[in-house]
Amino acid sequence: MAKQRRELPPQTISSRIVKEGVQALRDELERLRDEFNQKVAASKELEELEKLRVQFLGKKGEITMLMRSMNDLSAAEKPLMGKLLNELKQAAAREIEKKKVELNEQFQLREQEAQRIDVTLPGRNFNTGRKHPITLVLEEIEDIFTSMGFQIGEGPDVELDYYNFEALNLPQEHPARDMQDSFYIDKEILLRTHTSPVQVRTMQKMAPELPVRIIAPGKVYRRDDDITHSPMFLQVEGLVVDRDISMADLKGTLLLFAREMFGEGREIRLRPSFFPFTEPSAEVDISCIICNGRGCRTCGETGWLEILGAGLVHPRVLENCGYDPEEVSGFAFGMGVERIAMLKYGIDDIRLFYVNDLRMLRQ
Ligand code: PHE
Repeated sequence: MAKQRRELPPQTISSRIVKEGVQALRDELERLRDEFNQKVAASKELEELEKLRVQFLGKKGEITMLMRSMNDLSAAEKPLMGKLLNELKQAAAREIEKKKVELNEQFQLREQEAQRIDVTLPGRNFNTGRKHPITLVLEEIEDIFTSMGFQIGEGPDVELDYYNFEALNLPQEHPARDMQDSFYIDKEILLRTHTSPVQVRTMQKMAPELPVRIIAPGKVYRRDDDITHSPMFLQVEGLVVDRDISMADLKGTLLLFAREMFGEGREIRLRPSFFPFTEPSAEVDISCIICNGRGCRTCGETGWLEILGAGLVHPRVLENCGYDPEEVSGFAFGMGVERIAMLKYGIDDIRLFYVNDLRMLRQ
């Protein structure tokens, strides 16, 4: 197929140049310069400027076309007109470059403006973490006892039957094991049901050294689940072994703790109880922190709230752990941390501690 010829636009200026010569070209040059300068000065965007460049300096741009029409001039006229046209072309190119730099600067300035920080805007809030109420209470308990000279003891969550029961005077088939429905891993290994095994581990490590004076905070596990019982909860064990330790030492220590924890006016009372690893044993109550002992719903009208179990370390436990019960004695206690936190913060459902509802944790 034959290539189609593209017609150039009718060259009106060329025909004028033929007739009128240099003057027509000069007029045209002036006109183009004015038009160009005006349009470039008015352009506000880089794309607009690029269009102008094509319109005037492009392959078929107006200045380019004018240069072509020089062919119609006589040899005498060509050098001068060539010079003028070249000057126009170069000036136009410079003008475009200058404007381009200017527009670029303006663009960057606008960008910066958009990114500038407005110091009068309200600050952006970010959420800071905070300690869980259980952690707060635990730290407070630790502070109170360490200031009385207690050290912190530890033991594993996955415990041997021997430490959890056997050495604590709870042999296999002892009915008191039923009080602590347990998670067994196999016959000899279970999740500890209380922190009392840390008593055994600590005494066996330290014997015959005196005094033993520890608290042992940690997680414990039982097959319980209701509004006051969770299958996993925290206890703090306490143990003191020395010469001539009596119930008076236990009571004095716990009274001091109760007052530090729940306020100056607190009283405590000991009720007879039973634990295989203490003799005598007691349940310890504090005077109700809501009604101050007058009787209310929280304390079931008794005026007292039970907070822990305690007693004097059973002679057989001392023996199992390398101490001579003829020479030394000791007291021990175990408290539930959630119970203390519930009383302190007035929380009535233990499960609220574990569901991580921020509305509760923020309070
Ligand atoms: N270990 C007992 C419990 O979990 C509490 C306790 C500890 C009682 C120490 C007496 C002495 O119920």
